[in-house]
Amino acid sequence: MTLAYPNPVFTGAQAEGLDGVTAAATILSEVDGAGGRLVLRGRPVEELAGKLTYEEAASFFWGDILRVPRGAELTARFAEARATAARALPVLQAASPKLGTYELMRLGLSALASEGADEDPVVLCGSLPVFLAAGWRMSQGLAPVMPDLNLNASQDMLRMLTRKAPDARAAAAIDRYLVTILDHGFNASTFTARVIASTGADMASAVIGAMGALKGPLHGGAPGPVLDMLDAIRTPDRAEHWIERALKDGKRLMGFGHRIYRTRDPRADVLKAGLAELPSNAGRLLLAQAVEQAALAALARHKPDRPLQTNVEYYTAVMLEAAGLDRSLFTPLFAVGRAVGWCGHVAEQRATGRLIRPASRYVGPVAA
Ligand code: ACO
Repeated sequence: MTLAYPNPVFTGAQAEGLDGVTAAATILSEVDGAGGRLVLRGRPVEELAGKLTYEEAASFFWGDILRVPRGAELTARFAEARATAARALPVLQAASPKLGTYELMRLGLSALASEGADEDPVVLCGSLPVFLAAGWRMSQGLAPVMPDLNLNASQDMLRMLTRKAPDARAAAAIDRYLVTILDHGFNASTFTARVIASTGADMASAVIGAMGALKGPLHGGAPGPVLDMLDAIRTPDRAEHWIERALKDGKRLMGFGHRIYRTRDPRADVLKAGLAELPSNAGRLLLAQAVEQAALAALARHKPDRPLQTNVEYYTAVMLEAAGLDRSLFTPLFAVGRAVGWCGHVAEQRATGRLIRPASRYVGPVAA
């Protein structure tokens, strides 16, 4: 919605988007925008992604914050959560065929919450791979595939999507991705989760609300459009011209820029490294690199005062495509990983015991 009149309050960058406002202290993650570093519970993301599975990373991340088992016991609980989710699938099957994967995931969480899982982070997070796979298959007119509790979440998600034994390299790439995006300071969806938690609402409500914030193209909705851009550009030689025209038309280039990072998003490199472990599509990689180079050069000319660099979404798109995932699954998969972060933040927010309730300044008309 556009305001019908210029609002004098929203003139400074800070007022517009809370830039630079410290809303709380956290022990969960640190985003060092100037240094281009991301630290999760004390460890740089590069030390975790590509080394831990999603379940192992959740165990490490939740640590003493949430009352859940650790290590192998937590992995087993994640598998049980998939069985719990499978029992809720009739709710998804009864829903309108118009609902997409993301909406079906939210519906699945609501169904589980009403069955008593509203405060169980393992069920809430562990069910999402089942809802993602079943939701996607249903949106394609296909029957859902039941989980195999002997696999880990990434392997089983691939199996439930494709009905085939999961490819080990693709599953490892999904694990790498999920760990890379597990948590990231006070991004919009995490802040949303904390606002909801601060009202005393249940954890499921915080996760479902955060999914709403994540969906937008300025946050978690960008990677699909990154591939749309690569498709539109088609060949490396067309990159420069296409990008110049897009910027001239006032478009934002998906996969570039970040509110906090003033240098390259470290997650982009972690994911680019993951590409090397997947069967290569040399043509696509060449195109991605040419577009990245052309975009960085054009953005530097277009916004010389604002360092706009590659963000996580760019190589998310390229890597997940190489892992064989449909682009409509990128944002749903983001929610699977980030839900672990959201649940940690819900616990941390509750520990503060404080309602988040900022002020606003009324600048509208006053009756005489
Ligand atoms: N392409 C073109 N111009 C851009 C881009 C971009 N990708 N990013 C920022 N700009 C421009 C803005 O339009 C703005 O111009 P203006 O001053 O003339 O209005 C200027 O650069 C300054 O922008 P910022 O203040 O740095 O941007 P902001 O912090 O508001 O937004 C955001 C950050 C939303 C990520 C932005 O860079 C963007 O829209 N990127 C494209 C979408 C994207 O990649 N989203 C995923 C983000 S990563 C994540 O959330 C997981």
